[in-house]
Order: sequence, then C-alpha cells, then structure tokens
Amino acid sequence: MSDKTYPPSSELVANAHVDAAKYEEMYAASIKDPEGFWNEHGKRVDWIKPFTKVKNVNYDFGNVSIKWFEDGSLNVAANCIDRHLATRGDQTAIIWEPDDPTDEAQHITYNELHENVCKMANVFKNLGIGKGDRVVIYLPMIPEAAYAMLACARIGAIHSIVFAGFSPDALGARINGCDAKLVITADTAPRGGRRTKLKDNVNQALLHDTDDVKCLVVKRTGDQIAWRSNDDYWLHEELEKVDADCPPAEMNAEDPLFILYTSGSTGQPKGVVHTTGGYLVWASMTHEITFDYHDGDIFWCTADVGWVTGHSYIVYGPLANGATTLMFEGVPTYPDAGRFWAVCEKHKVNQFYTAPTAIRALMGQGTEFVEKYDLSDLKVLGTVGEPINPEAWNWYNEVVGKGNCPIVDTWWQTETGGHMMTPLPGAHATKPGSAMKPFFGVEPVVLEPTSGEEIHEYPTEGVLCMKDSWPGQMRTVWGDHERFQKTYFSDYKGYYFAGDGCRRDEDGDYWITGRVDDVINVSGHRMGTAEVESALVAHSKVAEAAVVGYPHDIKGQGIYCYVTLMSGEEPSDDLRKELRTWVRQEIGPIAAPDLIQWAPGLPKTRSGKIMRRILRKIAENDYGSLGDTSTLADPSVVDELIENRMNRD
Ligand code: WT7
Repeated sequence: MSDKTYPPSSELVANAHVDAAKYEEMYAASIKDPEGFWNEHGKRVDWIKPFTKVKNVNYDFGNVSIKWFEDGSLNVAANCIDRHLATRGDQTAIIWEPDDPTDEAQHITYNELHENVCKMANVFKNLGIGKGDRVVIYLPMIPEAAYAMLACARIGAIHSIVFAGFSPDALGARINGCDAKLVITADTAPRGGRRTKLKDNVNQALLHDTDDVKCLVVKRTGDQIAWRSNDDYWLHEELEKVDADCPPAEMNAEDPLFILYTSGSTGQPKGVVHTTGGYLVWASMTHEITFDYHDGDIFWCTADVGWVTGHSYIVYGPLANGATTLMFEGVPTYPDAGRFWAVCEKHKVNQFYTAPTAIRALMGQGTEFVEKYDLSDLKVLGTVGEPINPEAWNWYNEVVGKGNCPIVDTWWQTETGGHMMTPLPGAHATKPGSAMKPFFGVEPVVLEPTSGEEIHEYPTEGVLCMKDSWPGQMRTVWGDHERFQKTYFSDYKGYYFAGDGCRRDEDGDYWITGRVDDVINVSGHRMGTAEVESALVAHSKVAEAAVVGYPHDIKGQGIYCYVTLMSGEEPSDDLRKELRTWVRQEIGPIAAPDLIQWAPGLPKTRSGKIMRRILRKIAENDYGSLGDTSTLADPSVVDELIENRMNRD
C-alpha cells in the first residue's frame, strides 16, 4: 500500500461530468432514494413504452428475484444506433484496427452501422432466428462481431459470445448449454500474426450435433476451410438476399439480452444472464461517468468482445452514448511491444482501458516502446480484471499517462454488468491499487467471513458483499435459477456475495484483495480450478488432480496442478507436456497449466476432502505456515509435496 494520493488536474475537474461535490450528492441520493434516483437516470435510454415501476427486488434465499423497469419496453440496437442517426449519422461509431498494422483501418459511421446491423438481422431472420432464440457468436475482433451482437438485439434474439480462444469442446458445451440455433464464426482469425482456425473448431464442436445447428461464416482471410454437409452459409452470400430495412423489435426491460458463460468455484461454467433495460442503463451510465467520456472523444477498450468488458465497454456502453469506440483485432506485442501506443497515437485515443496483466507485460519491455509515440490525446486511463500492483500502476501513470491522466481502477464482474467500484476521474484523488469508491446505487459492505456480520469500523478487512441491487445486476443463471441463488445469495443471507475479499482503509476507500473462493484469475481471465481439474482427470493417465493459483509476475496468478497418476504410469517431462497440451485442447490456451507437480498423494481429511489451503501454501512457496495439519488422514503426504514443490521463488 502507498499513502500517496493523486488528485486530478483542475482542468479535468472543471470539465468533468462529476466532481467531488457532485459525487457525494449523487451517491447519497442513490442510496437514500434508489427509486427516485433510477426513475431519473433510467430515462437516459429511449423507451418505447416508458416504465412506471422502477425496482422490484427480493434477495431472500429461495425466492431471489430481481427486476428493474419491469413494465417498460425498449430496443437495445435502436438505442445504440437509430437514436443517434439524426444528429450523428456521419460520425464514426466504430474504428476498427486490424491485426496487421499495414492493413487499412476502417471507420464505420452510425449510418453504416445501421445498414450493416439491419442487414445482418435480416440474414438471421432468413435463417429462422426470432425473439428469444439463442445465437452463439464465435468471432475474432472484427466489426461483424459488433454487428452480430446488435443484430441479435434488434430482433430480440439472445446472443452468447464464446471467446475465440476457447477450444472446440468448450465451444460445444456452450452451444449445447444454451441450446443455440445458430453459430456465427469466421473462416480463420489472424491474431498476433498467427491464425486460429475458427470454422474448423466449429465443425469439431458440432461433430455430433443432432439439433441441426446452423453456421454462418464471415470470410475474414479467405483461408481454405472445410464445409459441413449442410446448414453452413457464407455471410456475404446471405447478405445479397436481404435489404437494409429491419424495424427494431419491442422488448420488455426484463427480456434477456445476452448470456455469457463464466467460471465459478464449482462445476462447469455458468451462463450469466443479463436483461435489456437495466443492463443498458448501467453500461451506458458507467461508460460515460467512469471514463468521463465527452462527445467527440475516441474511446478504446482493449478487451475482447468474448468477455463482459468487451460487451459493456466496446459495444453497448459506448454506442448507447453515441461514442466513437475503437475495436482492435490484434495483441499488445505484435508486431512489437509498442502496438498499443502506436494505435493510441494513430487514432488519437482519449480514454484507454486495459488490464494489469498487459501493463505488466509491456512494462518489462522498456519505456522506449511508449516514448516513441505521441500520447498527448490521452485524458483518462483505466484498468480492470485483477488487482493492480503499485509498481504497474506507477508505470502506467508516469510512462503512459505522463502524470496527467487519472487512472480508474474499476472493480466489477461478469455478474455485475458494469463498474461497481472505481474512482471517478474528476472526483477522487486516486491511490495506486485501490478501487476507491462505489458507483451510484452500489452499497458495498465488508462482512466478517465466518459470522457474516457487517463490520462498520475503518480500517477493516473481510468479504465483499452488496446490500441491495443495481440495474446492471445479472438476473439468473441460464436454465438454473437454483444455482444462481446458491452461488450468490446463500453464503451471506440478504446480500449479493461477490466472491472477493476486500479491505476498507482509514479513509473508507476500498481495496480488492482477490478471490476468496476456488476461482483463480489468470491474466485477468477467470478460471475455475474445478474446470482445470476435470480436464486433467479426463486424461487416461490421470487418477486425481487438485489445482490452485500461485503468484505469477506477469499473469497475476499462474495455474499450479497437483497430479496423481494412475498406478503403473511413470511421471516424466514428456507427460507434463502432454497434459499441458491436453488441457489447452480441452478448455483453451488460457487454461494451460504453468506448473505440474506429481503428487503420489494429496492432503485429505479423514472424510476425503482435499485440504486446498495446504496446497495453496505449498504452491505459494509459503510452506512454513501450513497451520494445523492434524486432521489429515495421512500427514506425511505434506512433507513429500513440500520436498518436490515446483515454485521456489
Ligand atoms: C473478478 C471478475 C469485470 C471484467 C473483467 C473480469 C477480479 C475485476 C478488478 C479490479 C481487483 C478485480 C475480481 C472479480 N477483478 N476487476 N479492478 N481489482 N480485482 O470479469 O471474469 O467476471 O472476473 O475479477 O476478483 O471477482 P470476470
């Protein structure tokens, strides 16, 4: 922790949407009278039928139900496109920067966006997609990804984006999980100079498909691809058959807008459901206020649309605000470690939003990659996905922001739809590593982990929960409302439990300390240890596996696997490689184990429960403080594990 604070410049404060006094006033109003507050701010989006009911929320376990603006109707695509046409039809909506910097960038105006989205929506309709149907989007970072999202929204179909880095198995599970009728993909996807065979992955994912899932293919590279025998379509051919007239469907505020699969502490990923009205209000309001976005600014969020950050801050938030949003197909280190800054200079980016893992990776490459470029248009910098260490924060602040750009460290989750805690650029003096203050309507509480009692003192530490609801909150787990209630509302009754720990300092500012459950955060990507374990035990040579996180310089956390082999199997480095490749194939490259330790035995209680606390300590190379091991069935396995530990940093 550092006690130094970084106040915003007086120039920034003078022009900010929200300054310190306004924050206090608005925050107090949002907590004292949520109905009144959201009655006013709910009107920031255009309603077809205005809502008369603001909020209807029940957090009682067994009966959890969350509704916002429930009698209103609207269309998200009309809010993100049509309502801007009269005033900014010729303004750029999306700047697309391709993987290869020598290829030409695209500037797509709101008029063009309208035409492209309407046409794609008509293609979807021709393929039999209607209100409530699920469409899986498995695309690279190309404009068609945004068109597909908005085309779904326009006709009331529910999209579920699967990150293009996920394997065929992971894709197949998500297609089945939400019973999709259509998958939209591309032939191949260039990224960092390499190509991912997306259409091939879809073919594999649908190999045993008996539901006749259709597949629509964007021609991105022209690479050779294999066609399934039927139900495959080229997008460009289908587009020739449609016109650009597609009226937006009238959707109820609580109709699902999208499903996004995310990892939990147990079981397979769950489909987080966000709905239409509350989500859009939340995404657009947080985008405008957190980044202090003003008309004419160029906003760049470097996330992939496969994650919630891309949903809320590449597409829905910015476009609902009539912003110019930048979409980048590539990676931070291609062709070299200066790419982010080259793109900032080229497109005169004003707000830049990225993840700590990217900052740490670039920091290691030296300052010359940043200093080569003119970054004088930058006004606000943002970070998201994991706690940011003060060293990375300082580098971001000094080298990238030249000490002139407030850093908004935004804490939120797939489940929350948008920012929950963050400093506001014109309102708060930031502290390196602190998510600082709750956004309007968010009422964080710190609970004592075992008793669940609220702790009111400062400073303090405990588990982070939310009192009450906010418009962007997830509504359910797709097809499993029970799991929704159990995951978020059962451990601490009457609260939303985020799964994170946090500290509140003497000024009342919040510091996220990381997950308190069996979820790890690898390069800002959330990973359930249970998922990696189940991939490992699916290998014929593996008898048992336990997976934990450990501190990793670049990734934040690395994946540490304890593996017990089937009897008769010999441990070897080749087998380590084989298991790494196996997990990559089962889930995707982001899940590839960093360290694999052969474990003849795992520390278990007499009832057979693996004591993960001990495994975490050994993986952290902190084996001196294992605590009580007397309840173990066989305490000697611990000595063996310590002796052969893989992380000795
Ligand atoms: C988890 C949510 C929200 C979009 C990206 C990840 C961690 C997120 C921060 C931050 C510390 C953070 C939390 C959270 N996290 N932002 N600013 N400081 N931790 O979304 O995959 O749903 O993961 O990411 O642990 O629970 P996600």
